[in-house]
Amino acid sequence: MSKTANISINGQSYDLPLVEGSEQEQAIDISKFRGQSGVITIDPGFKNTGSTQSAITFLDGEKGILRYRGYPIEQLAEKSSFLEVSYLLIYGELPSSSELESFASEITTHTMVNEDIRKILDGFPSSAHPMGVLSSLVTAQTAFYPASLDPNRSPDEINIGIIRLLAKMPTFAAWAFKKQKGHPLIYPNNQLDYCSNFLNMMFGLPATQYEADPAVTSALDQLLILHADHEQNCSTSTVRIVGSSQASLYASISAGINALWGPLHGGANQAVIEMLENIKADGGDTKKWMAKAKDKDDPFRLMGFGHRVYKNFDPRARIIKKAADDVLEKLGVVDPILDIAKGLEEEALSDQYFVDRKLYPNVDFYSGIIYRALGIPTDMFTVMFALGRLPGWIAQWKEMRENGEPIGRPRQVYVGETDRNYIDISSR
Ligand code: CMC
Repeated sequence: MSKTANISINGQSYDLPLVEGSEQEQAIDISKFRGQSGVITIDPGFKNTGSTQSAITFLDGEKGILRYRGYPIEQLAEKSSFLEVSYLLIYGELPSSSELESFASEITTHTMVNEDIRKILDGFPSSAHPMGVLSSLVTAQTAFYPASLDPNRSPDEINIGIIRLLAKMPTFAAWAFKKQKGHPLIYPNNQLDYCSNFLNMMFGLPATQYEADPAVTSALDQLLILHADHEQNCSTSTVRIVGSSQASLYASISAGINALWGPLHGGANQAVIEMLENIKADGGDTKKWMAKAKDKDDPFRLMGFGHRVYKNFDPRARIIKKAADDVLEKLGVVDPILDIAKGLEEEALSDQYFVDRKLYPNVDFYSGIIYRALGIPTDMFTVMFALGRLPGWIAQWKEMRENGEPIGRPRQVYVGETDRNYIDISSR
C-alpha cells in the first residue's frame, strides 16, 4: 500500500503521497497540494525542499556518506580516474576498458577551440577574474555550435555537445589564466592525458612542454574526482533550473559556473586561502579569528567551515586533508598556512559554538592548500572546482532533460503593498 502524509489546515485534512527513495529517504509530494488546499509551502534557501528525484549522487549528511551512482567516494578517489568518474556520472555505469578508451580518445580529439575564441579572450582586460572569463567562453560555444540551441536535438547530437564541453573546458580554463598573466596561449596537446594536458596549457611554454610530476597529476586527478558531483547544490540546481527552460547545455553550464563563483559556494576555496594568509599576516593568532567568527556583529565567517547538508563530517574533506599532507610531503613543499589551517580546525572541533552548530571543515578547507602546492594561483581555485564539477553538472542537466522535468518556477508569499492608486508626480 502506498504511504501517505496527512496535513491538517484549520480543521480540514489533506492526504498527500509520500515518495520514498532507494535509500529510504522520504518526501511529501506537495506538487498538487495548492490545487487541493489553496496553500503553498515556503522554504527560503530550499533547506527542506527536494527539487527532483535523481539517480546520480547519494549523500547522507548525518553519516558523512557520499556516493556517485552507488559507488563510495572513498573508493572512487583511491581507485578511479577523473575521466572514468565522468563517464560513470554521465552515462550511469562504470565503463568497460574499450568504452573508457573511446571516451578518452573522443575527448582528446575535441580539445582544440575555434581560433575566434582568441578574439573574445583578447577583449577581456587582464584584470578579469578567470571565473568570469570561463563562464563567458562556455556560453560563447552557442555561437560556434548554433545547432546546440535546438531543444529537440537527438541523443547523438546532445552527446557530441557533451564531449565538446568536457574536452574544451580545460583549454578555456588554462587560457583564462594565460590571459590574466599576459602570457602566450598554449594549444592543447592530444598526446597528453586530461590532467597533463591541462597542466601543460597552464604552465608550459610555446617551445617547451611542461613535464608534470606524477604526484601533481595524480593529486589533481583526485581533486577533480572529489568535486565531480554533489547532488542538488546551488550551482547544480542553477544548471537544472536554467536547463529546464530548454536553454542549451552551454548556457546552462555557464550559469552553473557563475553560481559556483560565490564565496559561500565554490568561491570558498579562494576565500579560505585569503583568510589563512590574512591570519598569518596578522601574526597567526587563531584564537582572535575564532572569536571574530563567533561574533554575530562581525561579518567574518570561518571560510571552509560549515555545510548545508553535512552535519558530522564532510567525507571529501577527510580525503583532502590526508592528500594535502601527502602531496606537500611528496613535493617537498613546506606551507606555513597548512599549520594555521590545522590549528583552526583543532580549535573549532572543540569549540562549543562550532560543536553546537555542527560546523566542520568542508571540501574547500584544505583543497586550496593542495592547489597552491601544485603551483595553481589563488584566483584559479574556483576554476579548478568548476573543472571538477563539470561532469556532475552535465549528468544532472542530461537527467533533467531525459526525465522531461517541467520548467522550474517557484512560488512566493507576497508581503508588499496591497492595491493602491497611482499618485501623480506633482502630488508626491
Ligand atoms: N563560520 C561561523 N559561523 C558559521 C559558519 C562559519 N563558516 N557557517 C555557519 N555558521 C553559523 C551561522 O552563523 C548560523 O549560526 P546561528 O544559528 O547562530 O545563526 C549557523 O552556523 C547555521 O549557518 P547557516 O548560514 O544558517 O547555514 P547554511 O546551511 O545556510 O549555510 C554555508 C551553509 C556553507 C553557506 C555556511 O556554513 C558558510 O557560510 N560557510 C562558509 C563558506 C563555505 O565554506 N562555503 C563552502 C561550502 S562547501 C563547498 C560547496 O559549496 O559545495
